[in-house]
Amino acid sequence: MTGAVEPGDGGTTVEARAPGRVNLIGEHTDYNAGLCLPIAIPAETRATARVLADGPTRLSSAQQDDVWSGRPAEAGPGAVGGWAAYAAGTLWALEQAGVALPALDLHLDSSVPLGAGLSSSASLEAAVAVAACAAAGLEVDDALRRDVLLPACRRAESEVVGAPTGGLDQSAVLLAGEGRALLLDFATDETPLADPVDFDVAAAGLALLVIDTRVSHSHADGGYGSRRDECAAAARALGVATLRETDAVAVAGLDDALLRRRAGHVVTENARVVAAVTALASGDWAGLGRLLDASHESLRHDFEVSCVELDVAVETAREAGALGARMTGGGFGGSAIALVPAERVDAVRRAVDAAFVRAGFAAPGHLDGTPSAPAG
Ligand code: ADP
Ligand code: GAL
Repeated sequence: MTGAVEPGDGGTTVEARAPGRVNLIGEHTDYNAGLCLPIAIPAETRATARVLADGPTRLSSAQQDDVWSGRPAEAGPGAVGGWAAYAAGTLWALEQAGVALPALDLHLDSSVPLGAGLSSSASLEAAVAVAACAAAGLEVDDALRRDVLLPACRRAESEVVGAPTGGLDQSAVLLAGEGRALLLDFATDETPLADPVDFDVAAAGLALLVIDTRVSHSHADGGYGSRRDECAAAARALGVATLRETDAVAVAGLDDALLRRRAGHVVTENARVVAAVTALASGDWAGLGRLLDASHESLRHDFEVSCVELDVAVETAREAGALGARMTGGGFGGSAIALVPAERVDAVRRAVDAAFVRAGFAAPGHLDGTPSAPAG
């Protein structure tokens, strides 16, 4: 948040920003009461909100043609469609939580590519939430982020947009920080335990590259929802409430081969998150790279959420010198990450570009994966 300024027409204006995210490891674990290890990235959504003397509230975005105008109290489930569901839905959820919002003219602009698996939607929700709370006169501190903004952004996404996601994305963009990753544990309840973990890639002579395959993923396509259903079915077959409460031995005894592979991914992925935190604590970057590779193979073959563009990006990055690489986010398109020695960054990017040309894919996007500040 860059503080309040008084523009010429007398209304208070506040500015806020929120990052996109990548998940280092711990994929498709959040909705299984499991562990994730995301970072915030430098790409961000900026919100500028002007307080109006009275309603309606107006929401616009440099990335969209249509403008939404209305009262947040009337923007609940089923009432708003399109991109405005994320933004108006966040305002609705804040009001449901008891935040008294003034009428706003709120404009968004983002450098997070939309639909690239880098959480442009959670970034938008967090930017809107911070701007709106600041406009309402609230101090946006850690407690407000965790207790008010995080649940509100999650309600906007699940109840107003209707996307059946877990809490990884909103937690990452609101709670992660510069130079660190965030160990999230979804075992306890809707609000995960969140512990910072040092992740100073630059100091280790490395860079985290983000490769946008330009294949747009969509939660509406059903693949994500069917994976959730399969995990729930596996938990039922194992007689546990969530896959966090089982282990590899029990999973190996499942009769259904498909459910065995799905649950097998989840239990091994939770173990990889723990191993990744241990590797980071001892500066074992090569070990972290091997865990990224293993995560990708598990997502590709057992959870089956990768795609050919992600596999080409990951394999090419490894061949060109990455210590490890994997798809990140929900999959079915979206982005990959690669942990690369600083002197190999250009070579890896060039190799991925060339491989995409050879395969006849659209040119990939390259983003910086430096661990960055949370929404504020
Ligand atoms: P991701 O969050 O991985 O980028 P999603 O499909 O979950 O992908 O969310 C993308 C959607 O979020 C877009 O289609 C749009 O509706 C909305 N959105 C994200 N960023 C913006 C923005 N800056 N302006 C308007 N809408 C946005
Ligand atoms: C994302 C989703 C997250 C998480 C992730 C897979 O698309 O929004 O909640 O489930 O996929 O780890």
